[in-house]
Order: sequence, then C-alpha cells, then structure tokens
Amino acid sequence: MNNDLVIQNLRVNVGDKEILKGVNLTVQQGTIHAIMGPNGSGKSTLSYTLAGHPGYKVTAGEVWFKGQNILTLEANERSKLGLFLAFQHPVAVPGVSVANFLRAALNAHRAVPGKDPKETSIPIAEFRKLLKSGMLFLEMDDKFARRYLNEGFSGGEKKRLETLQMMLLKPGMIIMDETDSGLDIDALKIVSKGVNHLLNPEIGALVITHYQRLLDYIKPNFVSVMMEGQIVQAGGPELALKLEEKGYDWVREEFAHAS
Ligand SMILES: Nc1ncnc2c1ncn2[C@@H]1O[C@H](COP(=O)(O)OP(=O)(O)OP(=O)(O)O)[C@@H](O)[C@H]1O
Ligand SMILES: [Mg+2]
Repeated sequence: MNNDLVIQNLRVNVGDKEILKGVNLTVQQGTIHAIMGPNGSGKSTLSYTLAGHPGYKVTAGEVWFKGQNILTLEANERSKLGLFLAFQHPVAVPGVSVANFLRAALNAHRAVPGKDPKETSIPIAEFRKLLKSGMLFLEMDDKFARRYLNEGFSGGEKKRLETLQMMLLKPGMIIMDETDSGLDIDALKIVSKGVNHLLNPEIGALVITHYQRLLDYIKPNFVSVMMEGQIVQAGGPELALKLEEKGYDWVREEFAHAS
C-alpha cells in the first residue's frame, strides 16, 4: 500500500449549490502537487471536504488514501490516518496554550483503542524536547508555546504554528490552503523550510496557492488548475509560470471550447 491520495469524480454541495463538479486528481506519494485557480473556483471547498468539514456535503465520488475511502471517516480518523490540512484561516482557541494543544494533538494520534492513554502518551520530557527543536528550527520564540492558540497571532505566526504542528505529527499527506497568504518573505522561507524538511518519498503534498512565489520554495512536480469546480488544466511546474505571466483568460477560453 502507498500514500497516494486519489480523488475520483468528487462532487460537493455547500447548501443547495454544487461547488465541486466532478474533481479527479491524484497526488502521488513523494510528489508535490500544486492547485491554482481563480477566486471562488472551489479550492478551499476541496481542502475542507478532504479534511471532513461537516458543512460540505459530498453528493458523489470517492477519495482513497491508504486503502480507505476517507469520505466514510470522521475528521479525526482522517487526521489519524495521516492527512494534515493547513487551513487558509486557522481558528483561535482562547484558553488553550500552544504547547497543550500540540501535546493533545500528538497524543490523540498515538492513542490506541483499548489501551490506557497513559501508556501511549508521549512522555512530557520527550514532548518538550521535540517542541523545542521544532520551534528552534522554525525560529520561533520560546514564549510562543505558552500563548493561547492563534489568539492575537499575526498571519506569519499562525502559519508557523501550523508548520510546527505538521512537523510534530509527521503526516503522510499534507494539504496546504494558501499557506503563503500574508507571509513576509522571511516567514515564507521558514515555513517552506519546515515543509521541505518534512517531505520524503513517502509523503505527498497538495499545495493550493495563487502565486508562483511559494512554488519557488516548495517546488511542485505537478500543477493543476481548478475552475468552476473542476480540474481544467494539468501540467508541470511550467504551467504555474505560464499562469503567472498570462493569467487565467486562456484557460477559460480552452475550457469553454472543451465543454
Ligand atoms: N460555507 C459556504 N457558504 C456559502 N458559500 C460557500 C461556502 N463555502 C464556499 N462557498 C462558495 O463556494 C465557492 C467556492 O469557494 P472556495 O472558498 O472553495 O473558493 P476558492 O477557490 O478557495 O477561492 P479563493 O481563491 O478566493 O480562496 C464560492 O462561490 C463560495 O462563495
Ligand atoms: Mg480558498
């Protein structure tokens, strides 16, 4: 079994409106697959649907990961299976510190049904060491760990925290939704460093972005374009460069001709 993520004919409604209209896409393990596309084309809808957000109703299709159709699993089960979604807009959780949140997330992943959590939980000293080295790697201040989750965090701090969480959980498939939005160039480099550090031949990444800038640091093997809830173009890294130069009009024209 491999860690490929295989999306087949995925159709999703938000309320009464169909947003995803038959998405087909495979993210192979060990590769980075970028999705680009105009505002409102359904990119975040795809990432929320993959993560198991209850507001997104799947009306058709399957999504295979590690031998399971993940659409049948709860959000926490998908996470435990190794799917990690870095949100476009992470939520704040006042009252929960960064350190406690990360430890709880890690322990939830380590939990084994029927076993005492005391046996499977990460020892505190080991967790502290792991946290410290991750924060050092991402050039985060020590004080950060004691702050409440995302409360008053700057855009860059939120994205660093997501990257830190990713580094601790070591997912098999990373889905990043506009992780570059709001990042200054130094933060962008650091976040990319974290992602690249994590990637290996067993781990795949689906990277949603509007800009080539991110793809200079997280280099995609494949680029797909989403438009009106469908994948309408696919290519290699050169496709992202072409979009940067020419915009989406030519894609729209080709799509209109084809449909
Ligand atoms: N919860 C929701 N309620 C109502 N409409 C929604 C909801 N979520 C998504 N939509 C609609 O679905 C469409 C696709 O939105 P989505 O956020 O997936 O686009 P996107 O490709 O991520 O856009 P962007 O590039 O601006 O982030 C939009 O028309 C949006 O208004
Ligand atoms: Mg979006």
